[in-house]
Amino acid sequence: MKVIVCENYDEMSAKAFEVIKELLDVKKDAVLGLATGSSPVGLYKEMIQYHKDGYSYKDIKSYNLDEYVGIDRKDPQSYYTFMYENLFKDIDIDLNNTHVPYGNTEADCKAYEDALSEVSIDLQVLGIGQNGHIGFNEPGTPFETLTHIVDLTENTREANARFFDNDINKVPTQAISMGIGTIMKSKKVLLVANGENKADAIKAMIEGPIDTACAASALQNHADVVVVLDKAAASKLTK
Ligand code: GLP
Repeated sequence: MKVIVCENYDEMSAKAFEVIKELLDVKKDAVLGLATGSSPVGLYKEMIQYHKDGYSYKDIKSYNLDEYVGIDRKDPQSYYTFMYENLFKDIDIDLNNTHVPYGNTEADCKAYEDALSEVSIDLQVLGIGQNGHIGFNEPGTPFETLTHIVDLTENTREANARFFDNDINKVPTQAISMGIGTIMKSKKVLLVANGENKADAIKAMIEGPIDTACAASALQNHADVVVVLDKAAASKLTK
């Protein structure tokens, strides 16, 4: 894994954008895997600025990692709405080329995985959960898992309550998520993380054993991973 440590969130976002820009500049029809959460918002702002500077995303395709179960697409808390508000509405991507998983059945999971197997993700953007989850692959998820329905852990629901009026009871109990096996098929992975509350997960991901206890540790087996951190998220790394 290539690890880049930055002074702060803004520098992290700018450095992460440099990694995406290298791809965008050579492949106008690149397939991006996208993530929600506060970590990549600054990166998406940089992508929006690039469009304002003249770059066209009209032939870019995107596939998101995950979505809550039981929340309508149009709901302000849905990950679809998050992507629309934080990126899609401010760039010229064709909304028909954007994909966010949806549903709660095995058939929904298979349909998403089938759609993914018809393309090849050039670069997958990831954040990381405090418990080391990527997408919504919680601790213990087998590494070969494909798109599946997840029971969210208490820890994850607590961490995400900030988006639901700080009321854990309003946080959905399930999600549909690309599996670790799905994520590992991506040609390149770009993981961004900031803040002290991610420091343990980052240490486990980079320096810990490759073990399902930390879903992100699977990335040690991927040939092309770039991790961009702020100082606080990197603070527990020994090297
Ligand atoms: C959620 C998402 C993850 C994301 C994580 C961290 O659980 N499913 O994809 O990486 O939150 O979110 P944040 O970047 O807001 O800390």
